[in-house]
Amino acid sequence: MGAGANCVLKRHLRRSLKAFESRLCIQEGESLFDPYKQYMYSYPHKTAYQHIQHLKLEQYQQELTESSTTLYFHIPFCESKCGYCNLFSIPCKNSEKINGYIEAVKRHAKHYRDVLSFEGVRFESLIFGGGTPLILSIDQLGELFDIAENSLGIDLERVNTCIETSPNQTSREKLVFLRSKKVNRVSIGVQSFVQAELDKLKRLHSAHRAKIALEDIQNVGFDNVNIDLIYGVPSQTMESLRYSLETALSYQPDEIFAYPLYQRPNTGIYKQFDTDKDLQYRMYFMICDVLAGKGYFQTSMRRFVKDRPSKQSSCGFENMISLGCGGRSYIGNLHFCERYTSRQVGCRDIINAYINRETFFDGISFYKLDMDEMERRFTIKNLFYYSGVTFSEYKAVFGTDLYGDFPVLQKFLQENWAMENGGAIKLTPLGLSLSDYIGTMLISDAVSRKMECYRDA
Ligand SMILES: C[S@@+](CC[C@H](N)C(=O)[O-])C[C@H]1O[C@@H](n2cnc3c(N)ncnc32)[C@H](O)[C@@H]1O
Ligand code: SF4
Repeated sequence: MGAGANCVLKRHLRRSLKAFESRLCIQEGESLFDPYKQYMYSYPHKTAYQHIQHLKLEQYQQELTESSTTLYFHIPFCESKCGYCNLFSIPCKNSEKINGYIEAVKRHAKHYRDVLSFEGVRFESLIFGGGTPLILSIDQLGELFDIAENSLGIDLERVNTCIETSPNQTSREKLVFLRSKKVNRVSIGVQSFVQAELDKLKRLHSAHRAKIALEDIQNVGFDNVNIDLIYGVPSQTMESLRYSLETALSYQPDEIFAYPLYQRPNTGIYKQFDTDKDLQYRMYFMICDVLAGKGYFQTSMRRFVKDRPSKQSSCGFENMISLGCGGRSYIGNLHFCERYTSRQVGCRDIINAYINRETFFDGISFYKLDMDEMERRFTIKNLFYYSGVTFSEYKAVFGTDLYGDFPVLQKFLQENWAMENGGAIKLTPLGLSLSDYIGTMLISDAVSRKMECYRDA
């Protein structure tokens, strides 16, 4: 883009932001207008899933081979529960309990093989998420790699393997082991390099420990390193956030995920303080500026990458086979997982029940997406990613017209949240900044109703 066009874009963005910022202070009913209403991590949200007595997975054999597949292990154990976290995880360092969980994961993998054939399945990725997978010992981690290789036929040389970790659980020995298993990507939850902010978040690691973990990760050497940061933490200022960003950048990470702090029900910090939404929103733009200045390319509201992705492939149809409890599986239009809860007591009960499970597809939660929901999933996944939705591709996949299916996109254009560019509709910088607010406008009435009816276990 030429310098002139860039100036026009900046002027336009400044005007739109002014209009938007004035709305930040407007009371909407009881609460303040919130640009971080809902993180549209996946569509539909787990709270829209319904209970099913028995899932007939064998009917999805064909869909399993039609798209590329990720194998995901969910490890729902952490050193402690962070104050903000409503992910499916509990504090647990008891190795007997963890061994019991791994035994259940083995039975789970076997049960998958009993009902589906994995011959011809194109596994492209292997992900260990959580929770904190690196809370496991090297032997325990080895058992999971065994399951992936020997039970499901994963070729560790061919797949991209990613693992999530926390600073206190990151040791040199474990990292060396991961390298020997061809792990390419390590993602570490640092959140902040300022001790007072880590304390507010009720994180157990120190800023110093995070630096040691990053040095170890650098020294062992992985193709891709990601650092998670959080903004909008109480006591955090523009300057302290800039310090955390610059400290993160000094490790030259391949990616940085910057999350706005969400205060969610059933978490330690819920209603413990008022987040300054205005400051949090301005922090977002500072993050974008600093990272753009360092050459990082933004692929979504949260994700910044050192190297711009080479091809813009659309996303939304990949399969995911999830092992353990807390992760979701997707096969074609079928989404399923263990019953969802964000309550600690509920998590504990579900994990205990999982450890004793003999069958894994009974009494779980599922959502079968119809064509309308598949169109929404495709649109949400691509619109909130830098590639946007390509009109011709949408037509080729669904046989219909994108604007005909989603009249609300006209509002996106009018509000300057989106623009047409290169045969696609893409978010503007303003739209990107409001991803968590405007994303909810694409949720169907059926899914919204189910989410409203959801009662936490
Ligand atoms: C599975 S965790 C990453 C690995 C590890 N469990 C850890 O926290 O160090 C995923 C990331 O989501 C982010 N996150 C989770 N809950 C959040 C919340 N309520 N607000 C903002 N970010 C959150 C954190 O940055 C966290 O690192
Ligand atoms: S943020 Fe990460 S380490 Fe903290 S409780 Fe959640 S999953 Fe565990």
